Amino acid sequence: MAVLEVKNLSKTYGEGETRVEALKSVSFSVERGEFVAIIGASGSGKSTLMNQIGGIDKPTSGSVRIEDREITGMDEDELAIFRRRNIGMIYQFYNLIPTLTTEENIMLPWLLDGKKENRKKLSELLDALGLKERASHLPGEMSGGQQQRVSIGRALINEPAFILADEPTGNLDSRMGAEIMDILKYSNQKLNQTILLITHDEKIALQADRIITMRDGEIVGDEVIKA
Ligand SMILES: Nc1ncnc2c1ncn2[C@@H]1O[C@H](COP(=O)(O)OP(=O)(O)OP(=O)(O)O)[C@@H](O)[C@H]1O
Ligand SMILES: [Mg+2]
Repeated sequence: MAVLEVKNLSKTYGEGETRVEALKSVSFSVERGEFVAIIGASGSGKSTLMNQIGGIDKPTSGSVRIEDREITGMDEDELAIFRRRNIGMIYQFYNLIPTLTTEENIMLPWLLDGKKENRKKLSELLDALGLKERASHLPGEMSGGQQQRVSIGRALINEPAFILADEPTGNLDSRMGAEIMDILKYSNQKLNQTILLITHDEKIALQADRIITMRDGEIVGDEVIKA
């Protein structure tokens, strides 16, 4: 079964002079366990695509199905809950809550859902992320790479249908960027986590199993690089 199915997805911003067709009838699907990189020049529509798939923004037309549920028809509240439980978002600038510790930031999706803490699961995840020693630190007390690992933890905690990462290494030096890629590869290979990774960096894209190339709001390439 496809984890994600995008059909004829279009997004137009503005009107008249300022009208921009950021996505032009994009279709593709992603199977469970795939590690897909989405690559393309600045302005090609990568973040627009991510925002429609993640339910952050409403498409002009077309559909997004996640594990057989159509998200384009959901209302705001339904979508917020669906997103929290089914999609793990990772951004270039971490988006952590500055007053919460590492542990609290990672458990935030549980807190918001009123779910009971699973200390064992949390502890395993902190271990995998190399954050055991930083469990009680605030974001402002950690390096960029460490903060990004916290945001990966928050994305992984609910075992989402897929991880959606927009330039997760974009703000990091190459060593920290490599660490982040190692964690994403670990979660893909060991936890069978499906991943969509947006990047403009070809070297990073080549670490995925499949590369989708965007240009001017369209998919112009879709290649499996590792079988
Ligand atoms: N909120 C918006 N209002 C108007 N136009 C927008 C908006 N968001 C994006 N665009 C336009 O849509 C097009 C695609 O933008 P998008 O941010 O998706 O590109 P991108 O591939 O993510 O680029 P980058 O690599 O620089 O992040 C661009 O022409 C951009 O100017
Ligand atoms: Mg972008």
